[in-house]
Amino acid sequence: MHLTPVEAKERIKKLSEEIKNELINWRRHIHMHPELSGQEYETGKFVAQKLREFGVDEVIENFAGTAAVVGLIKGKHDITVALRADMDALPMLEKRDVPYRSKIEGVMHSCGHDAHTTILLGAAKVLMEMKEHLQGNVKLIFQPCEERMDCKGAKYLIENGVLEKPDVSAIFGVHMFPELPAGKVGTRIGHFMASSDIFRVKIKGKGSHASRPHMGVDPVLIASQTINSLHHIVSRKVDPLHPAVITIGKINGGFAENIIPDEVEFSGTVRTLSIDLRDQIPKWMEHTIWGTTLAYGGAYEFKYQHGTPPVINDEKTTKFALSMMKDILGNENVVELEYPSMGGEDFGEYLLKVPGTFIRIGTRNEEKGITAPLHSPLFDIDEEVVLPTGTKVMAYLAYKWLEEHS
Ligand code: NI
Repeated sequence: MHLTPVEAKERIKKLSEEIKNELINWRRHIHMHPELSGQEYETGKFVAQKLREFGVDEVIENFAGTAAVVGLIKGKHDITVALRADMDALPMLEKRDVPYRSKIEGVMHSCGHDAHTTILLGAAKVLMEMKEHLQGNVKLIFQPCEERMDCKGAKYLIENGVLEKPDVSAIFGVHMFPELPAGKVGTRIGHFMASSDIFRVKIKGKGSHASRPHMGVDPVLIASQTINSLHHIVSRKVDPLHPAVITIGKINGGFAENIIPDEVEFSGTVRTLSIDLRDQIPKWMEHTIWGTTLAYGGAYEFKYQHGTPPVINDEKTTKFALSMMKDILGNENVVELEYPSMGGEDFGEYLLKVPGTFIRIGTRNEEKGITAPLHSPLFDIDEEVVLPTGTKVMAYLAYKWLEEHS
């Protein structure tokens, strides 16, 4: 039996709506049992158990020694598309009074990764129902540790071969987006989200009595001059048409009003939308820190730590995604987003290796009081609409990508 394009689309829509209650139950289960970055082992177990129930051909639990679960649905031909979800929650107290409120005090799915995991499970279930019509393989990547730089997230999975055996030809991922109403989705070609790096600067002076500054080297003064100058990088060095942020969020030093200390430390974050600018900014920073410290006779340590690269949506996969989403959700429900965001996401790591598209799924519903932003203690989604919508998008993109590229 062969499905016509219209039959395939209608079937994916119908299957995604039919499993709505299951989707809601899975999401509530994950929401009530949130786990912090790097500790998502119970969530991983739940995911693996579901994938086995659906009959997914290969299920690798604890991929590369992490909580990651990687599933493979085998189709007709030797081509593979990947779908990715993240599973971690945040260290905060949920304040929304709902029956599915977090049961773990101080841990909450306030970034919607419970919904991302659920949507990918939904897509797996739908695609398994369509298995005989799949023209290639679907790799299902359930990833730990998206929220933190210090545990093993996307980059580690990639280093351990998650995009190989079989090689992935394209990847798609989704994220909750309270700025769009539930039922709508959006994306854009090219720059989509920012790189997110952190740095730490230690200014070393020479301590002395506050009344005898000439006997010492004042690191408080050097640090303040340095911070001032660092803030001029974005306004004077960076092309105004290329967005960048340097924020110094923390400063520490000194003991008392009447003592010039030995050292002052400060730290911050750098965001850019382009890879070139991301490479250039730390060089400008070090010149500035070196020059300013030298002028005052101090010394410095500068540590720059790369976090996540920018998310840059591939032109071909994104045009494909926009047109397929319009096809299955209707033109009126697909928004070509005008602006990127300066937030970070480690989905950008996958996009350094294979073409792909990151998609925003609207979550907002004023009538149900669902308006809180991501990372808010009141964050929630309109699950009845969001979960089937996301499932349709993920399942349809995988199905059609394989059909068009096999
Ligand atoms: Ni997130």
